[in-house]
Amino acid sequence: MIDLVGVSKIYQIGLVEVRALDDVQLHVDDGEFVVVLGPSGSGKTTLLNIIGALDTPTAGSVSVGGQDITGASRSDLFALRRQTVSFIFQSFNLFPGLTALENVEFGIDVAGKRGLTAPEAVLDSVGLGDRISHFPHELSGGEQQRVAIARALATGNPVLLADEPTGELDFRTGAQILELLIEQATGDRAVLVVTHNREISRIADRVVEMSSGRVVSDGPPEGGKTPLSELRW
Ligand SMILES: Nc1ncnc2c1ncn2[C@@H]1O[C@H](COP(=O)(O)OP(=O)(O)OP(=O)(O)O)[C@@H](O)[C@H]1O
Ligand SMILES: [Mg+2]
Repeated sequence: MIDLVGVSKIYQIGLVEVRALDDVQLHVDDGEFVVVLGPSGSGKTTLLNIIGALDTPTAGSVSVGGQDITGASRSDLFALRRQTVSFIFQSFNLFPGLTALENVEFGIDVAGKRGLTAPEAVLDSVGLGDRISHFPHELSGGEQQRVAIARALATGNPVLLADEPTGELDFRTGAQILELLIEQATGDRAVLVVTHNREISRIADRVVEMSSGRVVSDGPPEGGKTPLSELRW
């Protein structure tokens, strides 16, 4: 589903070179759930943006959903952003003037899937069946993030990318959101979640750890996968 081979990203600021990604290899299969863990500045957002075709690598090759995007045209990249990847952000990014239902409908429209997905059913699946007419300011942080997840799921796009989706939530709510995202990695849908919170990453099957733009480890969390109920807070 996702393949990065020898991917580097260098930002040139005046005379200073910043190596945001340094020879990254990453393979993610259909149905897989991956947590990307690393400190601030380690390259996590750069990695997601490159996978989501919001940024281009300086070197290496990237393929997403079976499509090599390294040399793709602008129109191919536009289609990929609408129909292959969906983003979930730290700050939810909901439209404040739209209800939960309308926010999800908007996502469906952008992906060109109107009529193919019932937005009410998707909101129900994230536990918000009784909140569909609420505006974002009438929802808790965890509920707003659920709407954002529903909006991403409703597109039916096979790659779900979430950048610090738990950053603005308390620890327990954050872990619940991460667990909800884990459940979404089924069938052909792959899910990548960025966090700097090592404790939260313990509930994942697979953790890709980054440091200074490099992948320094890739495997089960230290101490093995831990149930949500056993996390410390
Ligand atoms: N547009 C840019 N121009 C120059 N340098 C950049 C740019 N974007 C990111 N960087 C640099 O690349 C490195 C990686 O940044 P990135 O945003 O990917 O880190 P991150 O792991 O997401 O950090 P955080 O946890 O703080 O969000 C940092 O040193 C950052 O300063
Ligand atoms: Mg970041």
